[in-house]
Amino acid sequence: MSEAPFNPLAFPQPHLLGIEGLSPVDITLLLDRANTYVELNRKRGVMLDTLSGRVVMNLFFEASTRTRTSFELAGKRLGAEVINMSVSTSSIKKGETLIDTAMTLNAMHPDVLVVRHGSSGAVKLLSEKVNCAVINAGDGSHEHPTQALLDALTIRRRKGHIDGLQVAICGDILHSRVARSNIHLLNTMGARVRLIAPKTLLPAQVERLGVEVFHDMRAGLKDCDIVMMLRLQTERMESSFFSTVREYYRYYGLNYDKLEMAKPDALIMHPGPMNRGVEIASDVADDIGRSAIREQVEMGVAVRMACLEVLCKKLEGRENA
Ligand code: NCD
Repeated sequence: MSEAPFNPLAFPQPHLLGIEGLSPVDITLLLDRANTYVELNRKRGVMLDTLSGRVVMNLFFEASTRTRTSFELAGKRLGAEVINMSVSTSSIKKGETLIDTAMTLNAMHPDVLVVRHGSSGAVKLLSEKVNCAVINAGDGSHEHPTQALLDALTIRRRKGHIDGLQVAICGDILHSRVARSNIHLLNTMGARVRLIAPKTLLPAQVERLGVEVFHDMRAGLKDCDIVMMLRLQTERMESSFFSTVREYYRYYGLNYDKLEMAKPDALIMHPGPMNRGVEIASDVADDIGRSAIREQVEMGVAVRMACLEVLCKKLEGRENA
């Protein structure tokens, strides 16, 4: 695959709020750049000065392990100063609104705000109030663009391409921003997407997103190249969406028996955090030959480096204009 020369100014947007609306060229620009960072990240002690003098602020209103730490590492690797705002110790606990908090941080002139929030649309709203670049690190059940990008990079490196692949996304689609961003990305890049879930865990009129829907896992997994498992997001469930965890696992948990339906070289993915024995059997999750779950985490740093770099270069372009 020959890569186009890196031209961050070609990226059409000042923010990264979602995958919806990005073109194959925009997505490829980010993936190609991220790919150049993968080997570099495996070396010890590499520090670049690409973003020296830039300030990245992480503002997470919801819990996070992978996303927050990988944004921090990505910023630091590129030489930026990274500040982590922990909501539990900030004035948000004292009743400050999202916008007031954002305006306060904006007054300190950050270059990039990386924001995770429990409400769909909150990150876009915030981006309209500040004058720095904003990256959506997950807004409610809406979008989580860097997760879809790191999943795409993992798939592209393992399979060599994304187009034409049959991808099954299984589990709690209804509450999943990861599913939504992945559906947009995979469709844009020419993959075919199947969703496998009980009726109660699917959004209404989900077929409109250009996917095939299955309620039976074995039927849905048949001949798939990629099996992407999702956690039951109980924190977003206001009522009961399934009878018991045991029954859910029986019908929708990925084990070797169900996996047999997929292609023999099908790749197993999960954005994490995993609930072993709920949506995925431990031995399947830990299968080093077939599971790309650890690799997804590794790709997360490279993808976030590319996103921070592209948005900061766009800022630089505007500052010099
Ligand atoms: C996901 C999220 O926060 O949306 N996690 C992640 O970023 N890797 C998925 C989840 O919480 O289940």
